[in-house]
Amino acid sequence: MNASEVAPSRIAVRLAERSYDVVVGRGLIEQASSWEGLRLGADGMVVTNPVVGAHHLDKLRAVLSRRHRRLHVVELPDGEQHKDWPTLQRIFDTLLQAGCDRRTVVYALGGGVIGDMAGFAAACYMRGIGYVQIPTTLLAQVDSSVGGKTAINHAMGKNMIGAFHQPLRVLCDVDLLGTLPEREFRSGLAEVIKYGPIWDWTFFEWLELHADALLAREPGTLITAIRRSCEIKADVVGRDERESDLRAILNFGHTFAHAIEAGLGYGTWLHGEAVGSGMVLAADLSARMGRIEWSIAQRIRNLVARCWLPVEAPALGVERWLELMRMDKKAQAGEIQFVLLDKPGGAGLQTAPDAMIGEVLAHNSAVA
Ligand SMILES: NC(=O)c1ccc[n+]([C@@H]2O[C@H](COP(=O)([O-])OP(=O)(O)OC[C@H]3O[C@@H](n4cnc5c(N)ncnc54)[C@H](O)[C@@H]3O)[C@@H](O)[C@H]2O)c1
Ligand SMILES: [Zn+2]
Repeated sequence: MNASEVAPSRIAVRLAERSYDVVVGRGLIEQASSWEGLRLGADGMVVTNPVVGAHHLDKLRAVLSRRHRRLHVVELPDGEQHKDWPTLQRIFDTLLQAGCDRRTVVYALGGGVIGDMAGFAAACYMRGIGYVQIPTTLLAQVDSSVGGKTAINHAMGKNMIGAFHQPLRVLCDVDLLGTLPEREFRSGLAEVIKYGPIWDWTFFEWLELHADALLAREPGTLITAIRRSCEIKADVVGRDERESDLRAILNFGHTFAHAIEAGLGYGTWLHGEAVGSGMVLAADLSARMGRIEWSIAQRIRNLVARCWLPVEAPALGVERWLELMRMDKKAQAGEIQFVLLDKPGGAGLQTAPDAMIGEVLAHNSAVA
């Protein structure tokens, strides 16, 4: 398929004066239509890291240096461990040293770490400037770049310092995923899968049929999967921007996943790997609570496994699991809130008896 043969899809995130488009397609950086209608200050600032920059910075720089009178680039060190205040400061240093004004546009070229940091810097600089997301991981294309959550980590918790700040546009160019390591790609598939059970069971069935093409990164199949994921996220965020209620369902599998990440030490399992296992546990709990048929939980487990994501949870010990999950942001007065399915394609927040959580873990752990 030639990039020029297929027009990119545009998905509107409807948030009154903060509305914007998510564009999904191939070769987007080079296409003029990707940039049309975007705010244009004298200065542009690309935030990236050396790993992503080595692959994709040159083509972005070539396009943006024709759009801005001055184009600045800041390369942050790669990795979640640098999603912190001293690293964020480097963005502010560069903006100030270059004399960037309020019309400056920030471009986030990278995965969720770069997107979250560049977005948070844009939220703070001169009380808020515009930014464009150019996500380069599957996770960032289907999840973190859409919805305006930006943050850095604190020693005492992930994403604890942040702001809601919507981007001006999101460009999801599937060609950028060509250089993504296999493990990162598969991890991103977990966030694609999650949209089916919570919102659109037909999409889940489509994923069952197209899992092999997705794993082979077939561009047309990837575009369809990313587009549908972004449509669902846009729909949810459009109804509940600040997560007063509905938006929490996007955390399907995440109460368990966060416990896995914290329990094993961050980075031992990738986030999407923990979400894969977390969705299996949450689906099992939904079935055990009588909310969905067991066959639905089994199909979720099968699809997670087909995407080479873990379905067996690590054996942390039930007490430790419960302790970790009570620290989850959704927990209220020490009661763990799970996103549970109430039908194939629908979910809500729910508590569960400790004994039942224990049963779920016993049935799905590597070692009981
Ligand atoms: N804001 C939100 O709503 C939201 C939602 C989910 C996750 N997040 C955040 O996203 C972060 C995780 O994002 P991630 O999974 O994208 O991780 P990441 O940004 O660390 O990227 C993963 C790795 O892939 C490399 N990489 C990125 N794109 C590449 C490419 N095209 N080719 C080769 N290598 C590439 C990166 O340099 C990095 O080493 C976490 O910090 C999480 O908190 C935010
Ligand atoms: Zn996630």
